[in-house]
Amino acid sequence: MEPRQEYESADVGRHRGAPSPELGLDPALRARLTALFDDGWAIWDRFDIEVRREHWHPFVPADYALVLDALLPLRAPNIRFLEWGSATGVVSIMADLLGFDATGIEIDAQLVATSRDLATRYESRARFVAGSFVPAGYRWKPPTGDGRLGTIGDGTSAYPALGHPLEDFDIVYAYPWIGEEAMMLDLMRCYGRRGARLLLHENDGVRIYEP
Ligand SMILES: C[S@@+](CC[C@H](N)C(=O)[O-])C[C@H]1O[C@@H](n2cnc3c(N)ncnc32)[C@H](O)[C@@H]1O
Repeated sequence: MEPRQEYESADVGRHRGAPSPELGLDPALRARLTALFDDGWAIWDRFDIEVRREHWHPFVPADYALVLDALLPLRAPNIRFLEWGSATGVVSIMADLLGFDATGIEIDAQLVATSRDLATRYESRARFVAGSFVPAGYRWKPPTGDGRLGTIGDGTSAYPALGHPLEDFDIVYAYPWIGEEAMMLDLMRCYGRRGARLLLHENDGVRIYEP
């Protein structure tokens, strides 16, 4: 898959921007997204104190405004959006509010509960499934021979519970840790639908890959 478009971020991970007025969003939608981002950051702040201070955890939140910039031009009817590692659900709920048919897969069951609560608060139809975004039987075999999966957790594949294989999705979004991008691109090559897009929130911004 080749990178097609990039949305640059100066300060990934610490940026807490609101949806820009220049995006021309409907004011009611902009207000809901602003509240969603604020709620997401408040949940993150609590999570950071209550969970991450005690034990390392792979969840760090995206630059939500940057993901919004990347999603807006992709809006179209009947687009299936999947988030790999949906954590507190902010990105999938945002995708739903933008009109995508949105689903998140998250391996940490407690985060799945958090994301469902947040979806209820926003009257969002985004679905959240507990399990792994890695299809059953997949093995990462890079040319270097080092097939370790970094922070990507091992668990039961979520697709059977979801009722949709990976190839049913038009847009897949993830925020990988550095070094995990190649495996995610390989997953899309192996299981993604031809024409599907992979959006990766990388260190310097959101990059859109297309086959
Ligand atoms: C860097 S965080 C990204 C959070 C969110 N997607 C965002 O952009 O704000 C990665 C998330 O992936 C989850 N995760 C790790 N391995 C996973 C797996 N195999 N399947 C599903 N989720 C996984 C982690 O628990 C964590 O919540």
